Amino acid sequence: MKILGIESSCDETAAAVVEDGRTVLSDIVQTQVDLHAIYGGVVPELACRAHIEAISPVVAKALQDARVTVSELDAIAVTNAPGLVGALLVGVSMAKSLALAAGKPLMAVDHIHGHIYANKLAFPDLEYPCISAVFSGGHTSLYRSDSEIDHRLLGATTDDAAGEAFDKVAKILGVGFPGGPMIEKAARGHDPARVTFPRTLLDPESFDFSFSGIKTAVLYHVRGQDARSPRALSPEEVGDICASFQEAVVDVLVEKAVRACETHGVPRLAVGGGVAANGRLREKMTARGAAHGLRTYFPPLRYCTDNAAMIAGLGYHLFRAGRVSDLWLDAVPTKVHRK
Ligand code: KG4
Ligand code: ZN
Repeated sequence: MKILGIESSCDETAAAVVEDGRTVLSDIVQTQVDLHAIYGGVVPELACRAHIEAISPVVAKALQDARVTVSELDAIAVTNAPGLVGALLVGVSMAKSLALAAGKPLMAVDHIHGHIYANKLAFPDLEYPCISAVFSGGHTSLYRSDSEIDHRLLGATTDDAAGEAFDKVAKILGVGFPGGPMIEKAARGHDPARVTFPRTLLDPESFDFSFSGIKTAVLYHVRGQDARSPRALSPEEVGDICASFQEAVVDVLVEKAVRACETHGVPRLAVGGGVAANGRLREKMTARGAAHGLRTYFPPLRYCTDNAAMIAGLGYHLFRAGRVSDLWLDAVPTKVHRK
């Protein structure tokens, strides 16, 4: 089965064709990162307009690279939640139009479940149950996954997402956008023990997260108590603060994810989402996981951040489970993933 996947939930317009949920025939991602960089964050209205301009050429290129026509597709899968509502609507409208015009089944894909699927796409022999972690710009969540489409939420952030904390701290330090990769770069070769930032673990039994405290701690460290006359930081200090911040966030993510595996007696941990691209997280999670007898999975970097291959791949399993949508399908900006 050849499925076209479409993704437009945030600042990447993406389309991909995936066969049988595992063979990626094409994978196009057009990022808007330069458009938003000067604002230090994604501007929803600009994102929507850029998706409208990009969606047709991106879909056409995905079909062309896969050497298929719309009529040769078996189905169409699209991210319909969660995300920026205007951005989601662009992809959803495109998918509905194609499904209607060509008479193809349509599947609604949850973006977060797409990030979880990125590991299955990269490692088809990944078995269930496994603990799935999604660490992105919008989410920091742990799930118990019993199949490609069955995910039970164990815990989530109570305030900022991990990626959001990276982005906000990058803005405070002026190291650029998007914050995650910029902080990782600035931290390279610097001292992660120079500043002890808080590792907020909340209730020891809980798998929830909180990252607003560390963001404020960085702000006070940089500005001191007097916001009107902030200290000038040397590049050396900025690097050390980045390394110290990154280390604290990574420690919390590793601690909770490994504990989720132990509590649920599950020896597999699959980490996805943009923050899963972080080298220090990959290194520390893999080492701690191994010390606890866990096998840890991280997708290749291009499947950590937003892409449509994970959407098309998951669409295959939804189709097989009969989870097909009708043309009333709508974009849903916030979907509450219940425990
Ligand atoms: O999954 P994603 O592309 O979009 C969302 O669904 O949110 O994740 C984007 C987030 C951003 O907050 C970005 O700063 C973060 O992932 N990110 C990273 C790295 N690369 C991207 N965070 C830490 N280290 C990285 N190397
Ligand atoms: Zn994402």
